[in-house]
Amino acid sequence: MPDKKGIFYGLGVGPGDPELLTLKAARILNSVDVVFAASSTKNSYSLAVSIARPHIFDLTAVRMLKFPMTRDKEMLQKAWKEHAITIIKEVEQGKNVAFLTLGDLMTYSTYGYVIKYIKELAPEVPIISVPGITSYQAAAAAVNRPLVEGEESLMVVSGAQGGGRLRDQAKSPDTVVLLKAYRNCKDIALALEENDLLDNSVAISRCSLPDQEIYNDVAELCERTPKYWTLIIAKKKPHD
Ligand SMILES: C[S@@+](CC[C@H](N)C(=O)[O-])C[C@H]1O[C@@H](n2cnc3c(N)ncnc32)[C@H](O)[C@@H]1O
Repeated sequence: MPDKKGIFYGLGVGPGDPELLTLKAARILNSVDVVFAASSTKNSYSLAVSIARPHIFDLTAVRMLKFPMTRDKEMLQKAWKEHAITIIKEVEQGKNVAFLTLGDLMTYSTYGYVIKYIKELAPEVPIISVPGITSYQAAAAAVNRPLVEGEESLMVVSGAQGGGRLRDQAKSPDTVVLLKAYRNCKDIALALEENDLLDNSVAISRCSLPDQEIYNDVAELCERTPKYWTLIIAKKKPHD
């Protein structure tokens, strides 16, 4: 096995328009040895690959990872684990590998499941996740309508089960993103605690800038006044 491991890059390629792929994703696509993307077991088509295609060299290997279109949890977990192992093998051979995801990779994406297994099976594999523009950001731009302004809030809900999730979640969502989390941070921490969200929350200041800071102890951070460019992502603890 080579001394030097490769890097595993997750790339969000945006909602469809190739011009909405980030410069960072384009640069990484130009340099990797292997590109993976998800496809159904029925065919090998991937919209993510067609969006990214102009940035992939002809000689770069492009491989489809087949995901069964099923809700059977066991079948899905088997596929995610097998694909994680495929990716780990490439990285362990010293290759730099990209995995493409439509829109953003942390938003309703297979990527989350794949990295869960990579972290579990090969914690030493370096993972770099590059965000993409989400479908709903592009949709709001398409109709020239702001998503949130001033004191408004935004909750993103899956519609796969009809309106049920909206009915359940409206009062107590699974994930909450709090922007403008600076001056009144102490009260935010209190509200998170009241809703059983504090322990699994994280705050990020100046995200993606050279002086980015990540705070896993949000309660402690909120004892001080964080920087203006601070947000909190709070998530209910996963059920066993
Ligand atoms: C599995 S989710 C993927 C979300 C994606 N990761 C994102 O960041 O937008 C699939 C859903 O995203 C939405 N979606 C993705 N791309 C879209 C697009 N170009 N236009 C409209 N909706 C889109 C649709 O609601 C679709 O059912």
